[in-house]
Amino acid sequence: MILTVTLNAAVDRTIAVPNFRLGQRHRAVEARTVAGGKGVNVARALRLLGRPVIATGLAGGATGTRLLDQLRQESVMTAFTRIAGESRTNLAVIDPTSGEQTEINERGPEVSAEEVELFVERLLYLAKGASICLLAGSVPPGASEDLYARLIAELRGLGVLTVLDTDGEQMRAGLRAEPAVVAPNVPEAEEAVGHEFNDSDDLALGLTGLLEMGAGEAIVTTAEGCVAIVGEGAERRRFEATIEALEPVATVGSGDSFLAGYTAARYEGATPRECLAFGVACGAESTQHLGAGTLDRREVDRLLPRVDVRELEIPAGVH
Ligand SMILES: Nc1ncnc2c1ncn2[C@@H]1O[C@H](COP(=O)(O)OP(=O)(O)OP(=O)(O)O)[C@@H](O)[C@H]1O
Ligand SMILES: [Mg+2]
Repeated sequence: MILTVTLNAAVDRTIAVPNFRLGQRHRAVEARTVAGGKGVNVARALRLLGRPVIATGLAGGATGTRLLDQLRQESVMTAFTRIAGESRTNLAVIDPTSGEQTEINERGPEVSAEEVELFVERLLYLAKGASICLLAGSVPPGASEDLYARLIAELRGLGVLTVLDTDGEQMRAGLRAEPAVVAPNVPEAEEAVGHEFNDSDDLALGLTGLLEMGAGEAIVTTAEGCVAIVGEGAERRRFEATIEALEPVATVGSGDSFLAGYTAARYEGATPRECLAFGVACGAESTQHLGAGTLDRREVDRLLPRVDVRELEIPAGVH
């Protein structure tokens, strides 16, 4: 079983607005509302890939009810903990004329210590039957910044492999708890290690930095695919996986689909090279759909041979 954790679940509304301009009145030509939040998107993609997954997290109010209803309709299994606050609604405006995309995310409701405790208890109970747990997205206001760190430590104690995808202080605190895998995008990784990536040497240094900060393995998704240092000890390897750019319908959540693909392959016991390739194929395929974490399994299989995985030298000083 795979678990996903979404502490700040949302209803994601995507609207298509041709010639979108600030300060103008527009008419949306297409609108779509789906359950969202990074962990929810990953769970959706894992479900579409046919892997056993339970989406967990916190949800509240009418928006919370709506997002759980939507997940039920998609046959995504859920075990959310109810909170008193109202779950957030996020808005993405896609301009079909320019291809540009504007995202406006709410901060999310305040959660109480009791709600968090109830959630942790339920997650750790489910974790007894899980082999991988993905912790993705932001921690809601009111929850301690080291909540991810605590979950990572507890899950490790249960023998569950943890995959962390978040940003800011939550990423730094999470890294200190030594998650098995971290998978940020470029800006998130730059923020975590504290320097910009201007070339492939910088990217390699970024991966090394994430390992030094506590990650067992580090993956950074890039516009072209991903770079990663995976494996332990003598098995440690650096890879770069790339695919040619597809004309996207929407790129929102392609990182979440990457993560789902990577995890799906890892769940099946695939090699690191295969896991990265499958992740890149899933990230790329998901750009052909409007909804975050939406992908077509057969199209993923068709794209997979087009992913190029190269092994690169491990930078000096990495153990
Ligand atoms: N136009 C595209 N064609 C092919 N692959 C794409 C395209 N856009 C994104 N991808 C792939 O999707 C993955 C997403 O990576 P990215 O770093 O953009 O994620 P992200 O910023 O975390 O996205 P999000 O947070 O919206 O899920 C990468 O592996 C990238 O190669
Ligand atoms: Mg991401």
